[in-house]
Amino acid sequence: AEALKVGVAGLGTVGMSVVQLLAKHAAQIARKSGRAVAVTAVSARDRGKDRGFDVSTLEWFSDPVEMAEKAQIDIFVELIGGDSGPAKDSVRAALKRGVHVVTANKALLARHGVDLAVLAEDNNACLNYEAAVAGGIPIVKTLRESMSGNDISRVYGILNGTCNYILTRMEAEGIGFEECLAEAQRLGYAEADPTFDVEGNDTAHKLAILTSLAFGTKIADDDIYMEGITSISTADIQAADELGFRIKLLGVAQRTETGIEQRVHPTMVPKTSAIARIDGVLNAVAVDGDFVGEIVLVGPGAGGNATASSVVADIADIARGDETPVLGMPAADLKEYRRARMRMH
Ligand code: NDP
Ligand code: HSE
Repeated sequence: AEALKVGVAGLGTVGMSVVQLLAKHAAQIARKSGRAVAVTAVSARDRGKDRGFDVSTLEWFSDPVEMAEKAQIDIFVELIGGDSGPAKDSVRAALKRGVHVVTANKALLARHGVDLAVLAEDNNACLNYEAAVAGGIPIVKTLRESMSGNDISRVYGILNGTCNYILTRMEAEGIGFEECLAEAQRLGYAEADPTFDVEGNDTAHKLAILTSLAFGTKIADDDIYMEGITSISTADIQAADELGFRIKLLGVAQRTETGIEQRVHPTMVPKTSAIARIDGVLNAVAVDGDFVGEIVLVGPGAGGNATASSVVADIADIARGDETPVLGMPAADLKEYRRARMRMH
């Protein structure tokens, strides 16, 4: 069959790694998914910037919406970021044309996941987002597919690489918060607006996605209790250490008698616990299933290459012809939820 044509919108930390990975492992991806995949179009703001590969051989769009509307592509990969503007408009435009979408954009999904899922299913398009939660860790696939035989009671973990990197270096080296954050930005871990990382919003966005997948509920980040790490000082970390604890920013979603509880906040965890040993940019996600028990996935939660690994896995799934319901619930339920919400507003 003809190669699947991919358009990549956003050529920053993640976008550049995705293009490089697809080129480097083209033969392996074709072998494992049964179909060749080729990047044919790209979009970013500045055409002159060095991206680490030759942009001149690809169709260039300064406007990602134009690429989504006009490029001859099978998959639109959104790696711009933000829950509105060009990211949202281009994803909607691609889905409306029936072009499959792969995105790493948790802010967009947490805010508009239901509408986008309906749009995808109405247009027989896939909407894949493995990279949106915990970077390189395959937790979306685990919840959507591998754990579908389990009733899940709890999902929790370290979901933000930037915060875990900051807390780890503050503890290990006594370096101040601002310096650690600047280094996380330099390494490409932080969001374009890093307050989303350190105030807990990014963890809340990811938790909203996990909650929807784990419990089959609507996706919404406005019900989540949220507290970030900006008020944590090196003195707090030292005091916790003397008591036998480490401080971690956790996202927790669990079934309670009154419904699904969702919260994001710094937590004192015993130094002897497995989660206390998750250092630097690593994330960890734990899921409690009634048949399997607890499983824990650990891996890099941010960074270009690790995130590209998840983005490309989503592309390969589409090449393979896999189709799973976008949010872990059937389209009819999504539509009923959307109608109910529209009646409320
Ligand atoms: P970057 O800021 O590094 O890259 C963003 C890219 O989008 C740039 O190439 C930029 O163009 C382009 N862009 C921004 N605004 C526009 C616009 N208005 N029109 C056209 N192009 C635009 O972001 P990241 O690669 O770090 O993140 C991308 C997405 O992936 C985000 O949703 C993020 O949350 C998510 N993500 C990031 C991870 C990471 O470790 N960095 C991990 C997991 C998910 P130009 O280069 O010309 O300025
Ligand atoms: N800014 C995010 C983080 C990127 O640090 O975890 C990965 O989603």
